[in-house]
Formats: sequence, structure tokens, C-alpha cells
Amino acid sequence: MGGPRVLVVDDADELGRVAADLVSDTIALAPAASVIPATGRTPMKLYAYLAARRDAGLLDTSEVIAVQLDEYLGLADGDRRSLFGWMERSFLEPLGITGERVIRLPLDGDLDDACAAYDRDRDVRGPVDLAILGIGENGHLGFNEPPCGPDAVTRPVVLTPTTISANAGYWGSGADVPTRAVTMGMRHLLAARTILLLVSGRSKRRIVHRALEDDIGPDVPASFLREAEGDVTVVVDRAAWGAE
Ligand code: PGA
Repeated sequence: MGGPRVLVVDDADELGRVAADLVSDTIALAPAASVIPATGRTPMKLYAYLAARRDAGLLDTSEVIAVQLDEYLGLADGDRRSLFGWMERSFLEPLGITGERVIRLPLDGDLDDACAAYDRDRDVRGPVDLAILGIGENGHLGFNEPPCGPDAVTRPVVLTPTTISANAGYWGSGADVPTRAVTMGMRHLLAARTILLLVSGRSKRRIVHRALEDDIGPDVPASFLREAEGDVTVVVDRAAWGAE
């Protein structure tokens, strides 16, 4: 545990390429790696680069396991706003990850019970190999909305106004954003063997510095990355880092 390594890159495109190198290296070393692929705008170039490498025969994802990070609640099957659908389009389909190699979050029934069972199953499987994460302007990881401590379990959550307004950019307006979600808890995210945090754009500048430099605490869930057991790499572009 040496604290996060910070790589400052020129722009969103270089961020995608540098992240693709890191992810490709992880998969080359551990072909059956379990990977949490965040949705959101930031990792999309990374996923496109990975797909291009696979198409060129440079990356074998035939054993990779994908583990879902978060999902809105209350959507009908096939709803355009499903985060699983976004993960399918951007990560699973381009990389050919299907069937039992896709581990989904529970969305039905007694969610507290189902999430507890999910966490027990994760405990048995052990830590994921790689978590690819973005950060919210409020410091969330997944939908672990502040305040949130490092031991938070997988659970249903109510989204904060900051997240709803950020997610409005994906789907149209705030009214289009579901207000509830399920998120993998901080405990399992922080246990990942490798964590790759991707940060792009001016709007993330304040929070990335708070997360990496201010007090560690529940007001900025991402600050707990500094206490994570595994390897943490933050790839941040100049617009977000403030060095342009
Ligand atoms: P973004 O989302 O990549 O679209 O900025 C990140 C997040 O909210 O975690």
C-alpha cells in the first residue's frame, strides 16, 4: 500500500490509450481477470481502444470476467437508460464477454437480502482483479454517494441531486434520470487487486484534488482509495489536473 500512482496525460484521448495499455497488461498477465468496467463517459475511449486491440488480434479477452458496478432501479427490460445496456454496448459486446463471464447485480426481490447474498458470493470468489472506475463530482465511486465509508456494502441507494444532474447529461434531463440505484459497495471496490481511476475534464478538477490531497473521509468516498490494499493508479488529463 504505497498510495495512488498519478499519471497526468494530455487529454481524453491519451487517457484512453494509457489506460488501455494498463488494462491490456493486466489481462496479458491474468487472462481470466475479473474486471469491473464502470459506465459513464470517461472510460469510453479506453473501451474503444481495447476493442480495437482485440479486433487487431493484440488482446485476448476470451476468458475475461466482467462484474457489474452499478445499475438504476425501476427500469423496464430494454430501457435505453439501463447501465447494464451501456456496459453491454461499450464493453461486453465489443470484447466478446458473454454468458457466465458476466456477473450482474441483483435488481429484484428483497434487495437488502439479495445484496447481502451477492456480497457473500463476492467474498467467496475473492477480490476482483481490476476495477475500472470514474469519479463523480461529489466524490462517489459507483453510486456510493457521500457520505459513505470504506466498509459500505452492496446495497440499494438514493441518488443525490449532484449525481442526478450529472447523469441528466446522458439521458436528456434530470427528469429522465432514475432516482434509485444499486451499487457495488465500497468494501468490495476497495478490495480490488488493481484499481484504475480515470478522471477527465475541468468539472472533475476540484474533486480529484480533494480525493487525493485533502482529508480522507466519508464526505469524499474516493478519498478512501488512498487506503486501498491493492495497486491504485489514477490517470488524469490536464483539464482535470489543472496543469494545462
Ligand atoms: P463520467 O461519470 O465518467 O460520465 O464523468 C463518472 C461518475 O459519475 O462516476
